[in-house]
Amino acid sequence: MTVVQEDFGLHLQTEKSAEELTSRLKEYEPWGHKITFSNGVSTENLERRVPFNEFTLNKVKTIEAEIPLESMRGGKVLDIGSNTGHNSIYIAAQYGLSPTGIDISQRHLDVANMLSEMAGIEGRYLFENAETFVEAENYDIVLHFGTLYHLPNPLLALKSTWQNLKPGGYLALETQCYEHEDPNICYFMHMHNNDKSNFWALSTHVIETWLALQGFADIKILKTVKMDFLGPDMARVIMIAQKPEY
Ligand SMILES: C[S@@+](CC[C@H](N)C(=O)[O-])C[C@H]1O[C@@H](n2cnc3c(N)ncnc32)[C@H](O)[C@@H]1O
Repeated sequence: MTVVQEDFGLHLQTEKSAEELTSRLKEYEPWGHKITFSNGVSTENLERRVPFNEFTLNKVKTIEAEIPLESMRGGKVLDIGSNTGHNSIYIAAQYGLSPTGIDISQRHLDVANMLSEMAGIEGRYLFENAETFVEAENYDIVLHFGTLYHLPNPLLALKSTWQNLKPGGYLALETQCYEHEDPNICYFMHMHNNDKSNFWALSTHVIETWLALQGFADIKILKTVKMDFLGPDMARVIMIAQKPEY
């Protein structure tokens, strides 16, 4: 069973000894997220990636109260850019959904499969592309966190998300946005901060417009955090939207 600590970290029960678990986790260094275990082991004491996120569940905790997750028990969650699977493992453990995660890093997928097994969850973590992965109308909720701005074709990815959702399902989206005074302007940020995996900081307005064009309703901006250190007019935005019932 998974519990969340007050600091928004992911905490997992394990029967492994600290020594055995540490040696397993060392295979996947460096670690980018804080995950703690019942035997006292924590990824924060292993080699860390920079940046290292201590608030592993902060995005999922922001959307949690806004989406009727209790009513989705027995359903399915799709985690786009699932990384170590922390968000979908948490949702699966708390609300009884089956998780599918997709990512293009085999290291992340191996970790997600290992952690979900430790949490006693039958997860599927698959090598698939966020732009094109579609299992039509299969998912009650799509978590699309921290990945949209890494895609060359973000509008295609949001169209695929629409297709993945069951009628009545929810999108929870977190991404880097460009909030220029002209809301139609988006920022092509390839190699921004010397990062070749960066592509588009869309504006919130453009994302909202595209979601509405797909058919999404009840599009709500939950949080906008200015990120001046990422550049002028850059922000991280969390929003939700619902695919209406037919
Ligand atoms: C910044 S991390 C976000 C991790 C997690 N979703 C979160 O927000 O905590 C972005 C993730 O997207 C993955 N990714 C990048 N491009 C992708 C693509 N085309 N398809 C699927 N995943 C991708 C990366 O490997 C990485 O795990």
